[in-house]
Amino acid sequence: MASVPENNNYSIIIPTYHERDNISPLIERIADAMAGRDYEIVIVDDNSRDGTYDIVKKLSSSYPVRIIVRENERGLGSAVVHGIKNTQGKRVVVMDADLQHPPEVLPSLVGKIEGGADIAVGSRYVPGGGCEGWSRTRKIISAGAGAIAHIFLPSTRNIKDPMSGFFAFRRDIVDPEKLNPIGYKILLEILMEAKSRNVAEVPFTFVSRSAGESKLNARQQIDYLKHIFDLMKRKGELLRFIRFCLVGASGVGVNIGVFALLTRLGGMNESDFLALAIAIEISIITNFTLNDFFTFRDRRSSGCFLLRLLKFNVICLAGAGIQTGVYALLYHGLGIYDLLSDFIGIIVAMIWNYLLNTWITWH
Ligand code: GDD
Ligand code: MN
Repeated sequence: MASVPENNNYSIIIPTYHERDNISPLIERIADAMAGRDYEIVIVDDNSRDGTYDIVKKLSSSYPVRIIVRENERGLGSAVVHGIKNTQGKRVVVMDADLQHPPEVLPSLVGKIEGGADIAVGSRYVPGGGCEGWSRTRKIISAGAGAIAHIFLPSTRNIKDPMSGFFAFRRDIVDPEKLNPIGYKILLEILMEAKSRNVAEVPFTFVSRSAGESKLNARQQIDYLKHIFDLMKRKGELLRFIRFCLVGASGVGVNIGVFALLTRLGGMNESDFLALAIAIEISIITNFTLNDFFTFRDRRSSGCFLLRLLKFNVICLAGAGIQTGVYALLYHGLGIYDLLSDFIGIIVAMIWNYLLNTWITWH
């Protein structure tokens, strides 16, 4: 391939597994979309038996495309990482081969990188983006997957579509040796491992597949949960969540202890609402203090101690309201066993507290 000017050099990485009928139109449309830019297309194929290899070889005489075949490995995420490691472009683009990522979006995607973004995400969930022909089930699964990432990996919250498979990034923001995706969601890896994260989202419509079939199955959905868990471990978010839960448990102890003190020694009546209110408030304050010092020590950017305490206080009181509401709904409304209703209420309130506090109190 001809030598390329320094600042205009793209490696477009495309994982393939049995995509024979999509390759030619894909390459032609990329060539049209990237006209005027210097780029190479690198197909990373996991030893497809459908003639993908021969088609790419033939196209390589007219287009800047090459193919890397992995003989003994399978998997979209690891194929993409393999491609990143075996290319040199200063900027990397990742997209699917099956034309569900329309190549016509490329100019606006790489345009964001040229405009200064570190990562540009082709997004289904910003205005102007969408999914074509999705069943209600797939929509729900996708929204649920996004919510899980947003809850448990708080730093992905400013990105609407962290599970997209269509994105571009500056190579120097991430060390490929650190990338270790389990399953499909390689963008999540890059977002979590990138040194700087100036992210832009570009809307696109994830169109229906016209040829071949999706390799997404239940296995990948379990892998996704494993992947989230693994990222939480690696990035200290699991430890943070565990600390938050332990602090919450300590608060239950404080709550009961204060209530006992007030009613046994303080002479207050156990049916006195004030005793309960004081016990709740004191446990909120001890929870806050422990969380501020241990759980979110590195995330104290939002206002002063008192302001954070105020935010925490309001969120937790709302949480207590939610817990009571869930209990009432399940126990009184649906007749579910009281202890189970209480337990579910506690879990819902805990997730509420974690979500809102990582979003508002310590962000
Ligand atoms: N090398 C290699 N090895 N490629 C693979 C493998 C594999 O094991 N499995 C799938 N691919 C390739 C496909 O050939 C296709 O080019 C691309 O990866 C996407 O695979 P699909 O099976 O079509 O995935 P999808 O359409 O269900 O999922 C897409 O959308 C998701 C968002 O809903 C992907 O872009 C995902 O990354 C994305 O999260
Ligand atoms: Mn697909």
